[in-house]
Amino acid sequence: MPGLTRVYLDSIAAEMEVRGIHHLGIAVDDLDAALDTYVRLFGAELEHRATVQDQGVRAASLRIGEGRLELLEPLGDDTPVGRFLAKRGPGMHHVAYEVSDVRATLAELADAGADLIDERPHPGLFGLEVAFVHPDSVHGVLSEVVSHA
Ligand code: CO
Repeated sequence: MPGLTRVYLDSIAAEMEVRGIHHLGIAVDDLDAALDTYVRLFGAELEHRATVQDQGVRAASLRIGEGRLELLEPLGDDTPVGRFLAKRGPGMHHVAYEVSDVRATLAELADAGADLIDERPHPGLFGLEVAFVHPDSVHGVLSEVVSHA
């Protein structure tokens, strides 16, 4: 009964399914200058912007066609993005994958041997529920899993 098998497998895969890349996170020195660059060069459209004190960032979410970028400017040197900039300079900061259930995905990632920065989901930027996976587990790329809370 191939039909039944497919439905059964779909139901197992449903919780941990990665829907796609939700956004790329970019660390920048100057949010307004970076926004201007992405608008001028790539026709980006501003989706949201916010200053989030407890995450130490001024952030903007941009749509470029079907895709999305998250620009992150640190509020100070002693913040996660500030330390990243000091060490690596401006550029790619993280890749965020959209999933249907962050908590279930974290359990799957832990079972698969990934080193989790966040053991449980927490509120992220722009109303997302998020958790981060250590770059050492993903070939040097800080990885985020997100869902719409
Ligand atoms: Co992000």
